Amino acid sequence: MRCYENVSVLYGRCAHRGALMSDGFVDGDNIICGVHGWDYRIDSGVSEYNNSETLPKFQSWVEDGDVWVNEDEISQWGIANPQPFNREDYQGAFQDPHGCAEEPEVKLIKKLASEGLSKTGHHGPAAAMGVPMLRVQSRLT
Ligand code: FES
Repeated sequence: MRCYENVSVLYGRCAHRGALMSDGFVDGDNIICGVHGWDYRIDSGVSEYNNSETLPKFQSWVEDGDVWVNEDEISQWGIANPQPFNREDYQGAFQDPHGCAEEPEVKLIKKLASEGLSKTGHHGPAAAMGVPMLRVQSRLT
């Protein structure tokens, strides 16, 4: 059994898209998100790549080989930072709390994954593909 003297207790969801950090991995002094590779220093929760990206760090200590946390601190943080997902819900472990402009369809994909086609009809969302008029005219001549 390994015995740790120093531990860090960090918020468990990535600041990027909310992936569970428990699915990530440790690389040197950093914990790396397993989805897109955002990094956070284990000792502080601050990203070396971009210091504005952080995971909140909570008080913790080791006593008789067990890790202890300040339950009141974590409860207060939870009240001040209500989570936009319920882990017990379908896809709850993989919810995206805020999305981003680079991936505008993620919200729709998750909606379809949760509801199927029950709200859109059996063909799903559809739109005319269209063909530029110049291409049509050149084939007709
Ligand atoms: S969700 Fe963690 S890096 Fe994208």
